[in-house]
This record gives sequence, structure tokens and C-alpha cells, in this order.
Amino acid sequence: MTRETWATRAGFILAAAGSAVGLGNIWRFPWVTAENGGSAFLVVYLGIVLLVGVPGLLGEFVVGRRGKKSPVGALRDLSGSRLWGLWGVFYVVTAIALISFYSIVGGWILRYFGESALGLVGARPAYFAAPGQYFGGVAAGLDALAFHLLFLALTALVVFGGVRRGIELGTKVMMPAVLVLLVGLAVWAGARPGAAEAYAFYLRFDLSTVRANFFDVLGPAAGQALFTLSLGAGTMITYASYIDEDRSLPFDGTVIAVLNTLVGVLAGLVVFPLLFSLGVDPAQTAPGPGALFVGLAGAFAQLPAGAVVATAFFGVVVLAALSSSISMLEIPVSFLVDEYGLTRRRAVAVVTGAVVVTGGICAINPTIRGTAVFGFVAGPLVDTLLTAGLAAVLVFVGWVMGRDAVSEFRSGAGDLAGGLATPWLLGAGVALPVFLFFTLLTNFGV
Ligand code: PHE
Ligand code: NA
Repeated sequence: MTRETWATRAGFILAAAGSAVGLGNIWRFPWVTAENGGSAFLVVYLGIVLLVGVPGLLGEFVVGRRGKKSPVGALRDLSGSRLWGLWGVFYVVTAIALISFYSIVGGWILRYFGESALGLVGARPAYFAAPGQYFGGVAAGLDALAFHLLFLALTALVVFGGVRRGIELGTKVMMPAVLVLLVGLAVWAGARPGAAEAYAFYLRFDLSTVRANFFDVLGPAAGQALFTLSLGAGTMITYASYIDEDRSLPFDGTVIAVLNTLVGVLAGLVVFPLLFSLGVDPAQTAPGPGALFVGLAGAFAQLPAGAVVATAFFGVVVLAALSSSISMLEIPVSFLVDEYGLTRRRAVAVVTGAVVVTGGICAINPTIRGTAVFGFVAGPLVDTLLTAGLAAVLVFVGWVMGRDAVSEFRSGAGDLAGGLATPWLLGAGVALPVFLFFTLLTNFGV
């Protein structure tokens, strides 16, 4: 069987941007920002997107397009070493960890979306505002389990369709819808009372805070930058493995990073004015994942036409989340197809079955040795896996591929961008792994 490829140029960009744009931009970004010093965090974060994110994306693209296999096969074939192939399995594991918690949050959002669409925003305020409900203190249990399964089923359905008729077609519809709806919501939110205050909170440039907190926010900022760009999980390796033309990777990478940042900033322009218009202080509402959404959902219940706005908002989040979760599922699926010759359908069934179990554990959210599983997976575990995962890709690019990486970077890039290949390789192969290792240590509180 010949390996699947993207049908169009836009297909790859939209699929990769669809992977990047997700809960990370809308659900995680605001609370990580609020927890880590607000605007100070924003500055460090943007710097990391530019200096680590884009070169990192290019690292995964180069491995994927050159290797034309799942991360396991690509790393093994390009190096000629089974050990690197074994390391590739790390990405399969990371992907499973990711989708295990991601589809729980996706499930919450599905529920909020459904209830908003049914007009229950004002009628059943408890669903939308009460702490302990869904997002309060992170919802767990049977509810979370059921909606996790629903979200997972939707994800599997798209991946079932294959690269062209599932992922490409799906993201070609989802991404434009996300952008258009978000812009509309941001304009609407900007007209709320308190919007000016919200913008001031969100976009204030405070250099002294950056200086004071620089090292404290470095780890979380790096973690968020990798997560939001889908880096370190092998997603971008996998997606780039379906490219069969000499398109400019630096161009594509830049477009994807810009789109992703735009959606993050837009999401803040929606979320913060809504919270401020009701006098909710985002710095107070963000002690953990989801708490911000309690405030938001409460806001919708009190707003004029709240049901319509809530439906649009949660619709955006559902679409963004789906276009990301399919990219997570695709990693283990491509591994099973490439390495074991499974049909796509069978591979999807196997992987989905596994995530029913691992995600189920996150949904029930037991506390093991004083640590709640969900929060651990969604935070420190994923941050650590992605950081180590990207560092390894970059070491691979710099030290194993070397000249091949440079020529792959140049292929289709044109003279201008192609000229960046060597500086990129030096940065990616030497400086970035050191930086990522350093942030790994700060994650462990060193
Ligand atoms: N980038 C996605 C988001 O922001 C999450 C993601 C991480 C997707 C890693 C794929 C791989 O929501
Ligand atoms: Na993102």
C-alpha cells in the first residue's frame, strides 16, 4: 500500500495549524498566564515561541519530511540505529498521555457546548457557574467519563477517514470556522463594559515584573510554548511525513506559529473582557485548570444573549480541541500502520481502545500519594515529556542528520529562507537542547 499524503498545499498548513490551535490557546493559556505573572509571562512566552518554537517546528518538519514515516520509523531509518527507533516509541507514549487528559477537557467542553446550544445557560445556572460542577475543582467521575468517550469517538471518526478525507478535510472546515467565530466574539467582547480594564490587565507591558520573575516563568513559559505549538510529541514529525513536495518548510512553520499565536491572543481578547465585565478577577479565578471556565460560564449565564454567545464560544473551543486531538491520535495510529502493517481502521480501533482506559483513569481522577492524576498528567507530566521529546529531536537533527538536515531545510525554501539553514542547525542542535534541558531542571524545582 502506498503511504498517504496531503492532497493540497493548504492541507498541510491547516492540519498542522489545527493541531497547534487548541485547548492550549483557549483553555490553558489564560490560566497559565494568570498563574505566572500575567503580562510578564506573555513577554517571555512570545520570545520562546520565536526562538524555540519556530526552530523546533522546523526540526520536526525536517525529520518528518525526510523520514516519511511515523516518529519511530523516521528516527530509526534516518539514523540507521534501532536505539533511535526505540526512542521513537517515547512519542507514542507521550501522545497517549496527551490525549488521555485532553479528551477529558474536550468532553467538558462538548457538554458546555451542548447545554449552551439547548439554551440551558440561564435556565440551569448550576451547570454553568457552581463550583464543584464540571470545571470547578476539575470535574471528574462518571459525567467526565461519558463525555470523554463522546469526544474520543468524534476524534476517532475523523482519523478513521484517513489523511486526506479525514484530517485534511476536517481541518479545512474547522480552522476557518474557528478564526471567523473568534474574531466575531472578540469584537463583541470588546463592546462589554470593563473591556478597557481587561485589555490593560492582559496587554500591559511590565518590564520590572519580567526581570523579577524571569527564571520562575521560564519553565512554565517553555512548557506552554511547546504544548501550544504541538512540539515534542512527534505530531509535527507525523504530519510532515505526509508531505510529498518541495514546499518551503520555514514559510509553513512561520505561518503556523503566527496563526497559533494569533488565536491565543484573540482568545484572551474574548475571555478577559467577559470576566472583567462581570467583575471577576482572572488572577483570583485561576488557581488551577478549569477554574477560569467557571467564571466564564457564569458570565455567559448573566449576559444578554448569553446562550448564543456561549454556543459560539464553546463551539470554537470544541472545533479547536478536535483538530488537535486528531493530531494526537494520529501519532500512535501512524506507528501501528507503518511498523506493524495494520490497516488504518484497525489501528484507530486499537489506539482508541487504549485511550478509553488511560483517559478513563484521568476522568475518574484518583489521588495517588497525594497527587490527583488528572492535574499531574495535564501539567508536570506533559510539560516534561514534551520538553524532553523536543530536545531529543533537536539533538537528532543537529548531531545525527547534520548536513542532511540542512539540505532538507533548504529544499523548496528559496534563497532567502534557505540561507537560514546553517544558523538554524547550530541553534537547534546546540543552543536549544541546552536551553530545554535547563527548563527541564526548573520544572523539577532545581
Ligand atoms: N497544540 C495543542 C493545543 O494547543 C495541543 C497539542 C500538543 C496537540 C501536542 C498535539 C500535540 O491545544
Ligand atoms: Na496551541
